[in-house]
Amino acid sequence: MKKVAFITGGGGYIGSEVALTLAKSGVAVAVCDINEETVSKTVARITAEGYTAKGYVADVTEPESINNAIKNAAEHLGRLDIMVHVAGGSARIAGPNAKFYHLVDQEDYVIDKVLKVNLYGAIYASRAAARIMIKQGDGGRIINFSSAVGLNGLKGCVDYAAAKGGVMSMTKALAKELGEYKITVNSVAPGIVCRPEENVSHERMYETNLLGEKCTAEDIANLVEFLVSAKARFITGQTYVCDGGRTLSMKGTD
Ligand SMILES: NC(=O)c1ccc[n+]([C@@H]2O[C@H](COP(=O)([O-])OP(=O)(O)OC[C@H]3O[C@@H](n4cnc5c(N)ncnc54)[C@H](O)[C@@H]3O)[C@@H](O)[C@H]2O)c1
Repeated sequence: MKKVAFITGGGGYIGSEVALTLAKSGVAVAVCDINEETVSKTVARITAEGYTAKGYVADVTEPESINNAIKNAAEHLGRLDIMVHVAGGSARIAGPNAKFYHLVDQEDYVIDKVLKVNLYGAIYASRAAARIMIKQGDGGRIINFSSAVGLNGLKGCVDYAAAKGGVMSMTKALAKELGEYKITVNSVAPGIVCRPEENVSHERMYETNLLGEKCTAEDIANLVEFLVSAKARFITGQTYVCDGGRTLSMKGTD
């Protein structure tokens, strides 16, 4: 039987690439997102290439919603081996009017949404997945998405930094709780991931990584693929930064 992965934010830029990459590696994927249209698009993209995918619409900030989606996916696809919580984002996740205000000016609804999707979502989705994996009794893999911002902070992103820092901390605590069940828990922290439409506006930011190249969604998906593979069986409680060395920041003179 194929291994089964549940991916939140699977309709998004990085999440859809994670879903496709895992599907290509032989895993049956449950693509979950709050956006029904992008769930369908991702599932269609994966199945069109001949791989196994099924869609689930759920809100990671609502325990009942994400619990049901993960439980249903495990029933439909036969089991659950991997959960990747990709859903998240900074202020804009709270809507088109949300801004990257400094904390003293930031609005309650933005702070609430950023913490809920990035951190509560990670906690709820991890809990739902762990309950099923523990029952199955043969281990599992949990990956939550952090960010380089969770490591270093960023002006205009206090809420996001807190949420993503929280993801790194929960990764360590949950790895301690789940180790005895052979369930590994790790976190992935991208730097700036390049979307095709952002090529010009963020050009200078890409210049600040050590490789002078753009990070793609595939770069992040490849890291996830490794962390959920048999080759990473002894890695747990860790956060992996994938940012071309950008967080090292001080390059020195040439
Ligand atoms: N893009 C980057 O440069 C970058 C950098 C560092 C970290 N990250 C992290 O990577 C992850 C993916 O980012 P992305 O660039 O693909 O963003 P994206 O906006 O393309 O995807 C995020 C997805 O999450 C979904 N989502 C939002 N709220 C939800 C909810 N309540 N329940 C379920 N799904 C919900 C959205 O519909 C969307 O499809 C995020 O956690 C983000 O913080 C991204």
